[in-house]
Amino acid sequence: MAHSIILGVTGSIAAYKACEIVSSLVKMGVNVIVVMTSSAQHFVSPLTFSTLSRNEVVTDFFGRQEVYDPHHVSLADRADLILLAPATTSLIGKLASGISDDILTCTVLASQARVLIAPAMDDRMYHHPIVQGNIKRLKDIGYKFIGPVEGPLASGRVGVGRLAPVEDIVKTVLKELEGLSPESLTPDSRRKKAPQEHIGEKTKS
Ligand SMILES: Cc1cc2nc3c(=O)[nH]c(=O)nc-3n(C[C@H](O)[C@H](O)[C@H](O)COP(=O)(O)O)c2cc1C
Repeated sequence: MAHSIILGVTGSIAAYKACEIVSSLVKMGVNVIVVMTSSAQHFVSPLTFSTLSRNEVVTDFFGRQEVYDPHHVSLADRADLILLAPATTSLIGKLASGISDDILTCTVLASQARVLIAPAMDDRMYHHPIVQGNIKRLKDIGYKFIGPVEGPLASGRVGVGRLAPVEDIVKTVLKELEGLSPESLTPDSRRKKAPQEHIGEKTKS
């Protein structure tokens, strides 16, 4: 059976790269359900993601009178893995603090699937001690990070904050999915067994 992932897209200039991620994963036979924050919808239209993923795109809690169950809980149960790409400072901060004020944060907190986070942000935001503390907190509970990497940023600066290359993100997702054995592992044990590594981070020495 095809694996299903949730791709959480947040309000970063790198949101357009999530289109390539969806396209590549769909080509590899992965069922991708895109969940967008309201900020993300300023950058890319849900229509683009629904066309690429061939699935309805989830954008809010309250617009679905036809759904009789709490949507974030049913969504969370359907995911073998949650990929957050690009992940903003705001999303990382909310997750680290347990704030769940939108469909994406609620879905992540309601899920026991593995969580893979690909941040994208200004380098000074990335290096801020609060952001670093939030990342550490999420790593400590087993969430895995890929990037950000060093390179030119939207601000015109060069530094660490750029979304990891799409191909690295896609490869990491496929590797994680390959490693899952839904028959023998509960979702909870999957997350606990996930190695707490940080892929692709480059810092200036
Ligand atoms: C043009 C533009 C680009 C932005 N890029 C980023 C970014 O790459 N990373 C980030 O953390 N925030 C970025 N922001 C700020 C976020 O959009 C803002 O913090 C927003 O509240 C994030 O909401 P969300 O995490 O719910 O999507 C950007 C804002 C604008 C206007």
